[in-house]
Amino acid sequence: MTRREALAGFLRFMAASPLLADRKYSELHDPIYSVANVFDMAKLAKKKLDPLAWDYIDEGSEDEVSLRDNRARFERLIIRPHFLENDVSKIDVSTKLFGKELPHPLFFCPTGGKNCVFPNGDQEVAYGAGVSNTMLIATGGIDKVIDSGKGPKIWWQFTTAAEFRTKNQMVDFARKLQDKGCTGISVTADIYHVSRRERSIHHKLVRRWCDAGGIPRDTKGELEHKPDEIVWTSGDFPAPRPFPTPAWDTVQRLREAASGMPVIVKGILTAEDTERAVKQGLSGVVVSNHGARQLDHVGSTIEALPECVQAAGGKIPVLIDGGFRRGTDVFKALALGASAVGIGRPYLWGLGAFGQRGVARVIELLRAELGVDMGMAGVAKISQIDRSFVRIRQ
Ligand SMILES: Cc1cc2nc3c(=O)[nH]c(=O)nc-3n(C[C@H](O)[C@H](O)[C@H](O)COP(=O)(O)O)c2cc1C
Repeated sequence: MTRREALAGFLRFMAASPLLADRKYSELHDPIYSVANVFDMAKLAKKKLDPLAWDYIDEGSEDEVSLRDNRARFERLIIRPHFLENDVSKIDVSTKLFGKELPHPLFFCPTGGKNCVFPNGDQEVAYGAGVSNTMLIATGGIDKVIDSGKGPKIWWQFTTAAEFRTKNQMVDFARKLQDKGCTGISVTADIYHVSRRERSIHHKLVRRWCDAGGIPRDTKGELEHKPDEIVWTSGDFPAPRPFPTPAWDTVQRLREAASGMPVIVKGILTAEDTERAVKQGLSGVVVSNHGARQLDHVGSTIEALPECVQAAGGKIPVLIDGGFRRGTDVFKALALGASAVGIGRPYLWGLGAFGQRGVARVIELLRAELGVDMGMAGVAKISQIDRSFVRIRQ
């Protein structure tokens, strides 16, 4: 065999190899397959969305320092591959969480206001979660999808727990969720005040628009404000609330009322709060700064992760979200001890660009990146990833 024949044979082998998951040219007429990564999806979404809707999902609070931190801090973590240790011919990104099998360690975070991004946004996302077999923390409005059997198999219900006045209300809430096959309750703890998101304040955004039909514009493209609509403003001192905001004992009561249904807390950033969650008998925590949309200057979540993992001490899983855009980001979090990684904006970009198909495609992209990155780092299974795979840039 000549060198040329040997090379041709090798190229034929590589083209047929499952390691090269490329698509045929003929499939590329579908623009969804020209999207190479989630940043491409963001560009497409930005082109399609009303500029106010784009800013609403893109923005962070005040100076957006945490927003930049969430991304920038990944660059301080360096991956330390371990070669020739494991057989990486077959990559498995499945994992186990809360006693359930997940096909991949990614989940969809709760996001309000999806109707500014796509009509019936909550339902579209739930269908996308179903197709991509992705765990979802829902903000609500997905009953129809769940009843259709096409929704996600594993889904949690978001609450701030601020709406509960009595134990009966909690019992009722949990029972209804249980009847719908809900996996558990996720309490968001960082949302008891309205933050200053100044892009939307400058736009005079009416937050209700994003729960209703989207941004209203007249035939000339001008915004249609009604005189009595509540516009996001700054400079107003927080008005006292008629009821105390929830506290750890509220979450504890909710856990008891949920009779066996797991309760997790989202928005944790410190070892102390993680320890408290363990003590309170909660099933897990989500290390999160709300996509840098609440208190600014809290640092990135990937920075907060190690102290939370240490405080959890393996007693409860520690999940994380905030700025995850690449398979390598996910890999780094897993190496630092996260059990699963949530995304917010990336699936909203998919939603804005292609509806439910885009939501599912974002998972396909990140799952594929994670798989390739794991293979290149020398691991074939999530359980083979540990702290030795990352170091901090000096
Ligand atoms: C448009 C938007 C709305 C959100 N609404 C909520 C919400 O209602 N409740 C909540 O717990 N988190 C909310 N979040 C935060 C997400 O759950 C999640 O923590 C964050 O988006 C993760 O960061 P990422 O967007 O950088 O992936 C929202 C985020 C965005 C972008």
